[in-house]
Amino acid sequence: MPADKIADPSAPESNNSACPDSDAVTSAISHDSGEVFSRLTSRSIRSFVIRNGRTTPAQTDAMDRLLPKFGLSYSDQPIDLQAQFGRTAATVLEIGFGNGDVFTHIAQQQPERNVIGVEVHTAGVGHALLAIEQKQLTHTRVIQHDALEVLHNMLPAESIEKVLLLFPDPWHKKRHHKRRIVQKDFLDGVCRVLKPTGVLHCATDWAEYGEWMIEHLEGDSRFENTVGPSMASERPEWRPLTRFEARGHRLGHSVLDLIYRKV
Ligand SMILES: C[S@@+](CC[C@H](N)C(=O)[O-])C[C@H]1O[C@@H](n2cnc3c(N)ncnc32)[C@H](O)[C@@H]1O
Repeated sequence: MPADKIADPSAPESNNSACPDSDAVTSAISHDSGEVFSRLTSRSIRSFVIRNGRTTPAQTDAMDRLLPKFGLSYSDQPIDLQAQFGRTAATVLEIGFGNGDVFTHIAQQQPERNVIGVEVHTAGVGHALLAIEQKQLTHTRVIQHDALEVLHNMLPAESIEKVLLLFPDPWHKKRHHKRRIVQKDFLDGVCRVLKPTGVLHCATDWAEYGEWMIEHLEGDSRFENTVGPSMASERPEWRPLTRFEARGHRLGHSVLDLIYRKV
């Protein structure tokens, strides 16, 4: 699909009321706990806010019980993936997995691959851990930390086959664009961890963010579009619909899958 066939950027409604773009959330940004942020990142400009969403007792229990088993504590030094997984296998990384539905679906469908998910939101991490336990996905690991730091410090260079960034927070307002995760710094980190010819797969239903992604990726000579310059790909069959994507569809937004290979 040509990239100019994307949803009207003036679409009146955001894909996700939990996305940090409303004025309510803007005010939450200034009230967020510095203590929580300092545990999750040392960065001052962040692509996330700490939402006060309710964590269920089951999710809290999963954090206590399952994080030690399926979680990786943040490290500012590269970790040994072979030791962590107990095997050598192609590894997929999902950044900002939300409640983990895609992450756990891929892990279930592709047991031959290691799957790592990064997310800051506790309820989402708890939800994913419960699915990991229920489906016995022993080849998955969860990292609750700022993905930017994980990309730059924790994952070994050239260790990842595919990076997924599905429906990242669009940060609609111009004054918030600096919080968009797709920036040069993010692409530097992705490029660092991807194996040669590894793939970065982004998807968004927010037209103007799609244009932003294309601009950043086409302008970066370390990446090439897998289907031709500035082109969007068909949604691959292995990628299930995400919760945010389903809401985008209900709002009449077009979805762009943008798939780039490391050159
Ligand atoms: C709009 S949601 C999309 C969730 C999921 N990918 C989906 O499509 O359903 C974006 C998610 O990215 C997470 N996120 C944003 N910036 C992040 C970062 N720097 N590190 C880790 N997670 C991040 C947010 O907490 C949020 O859950």
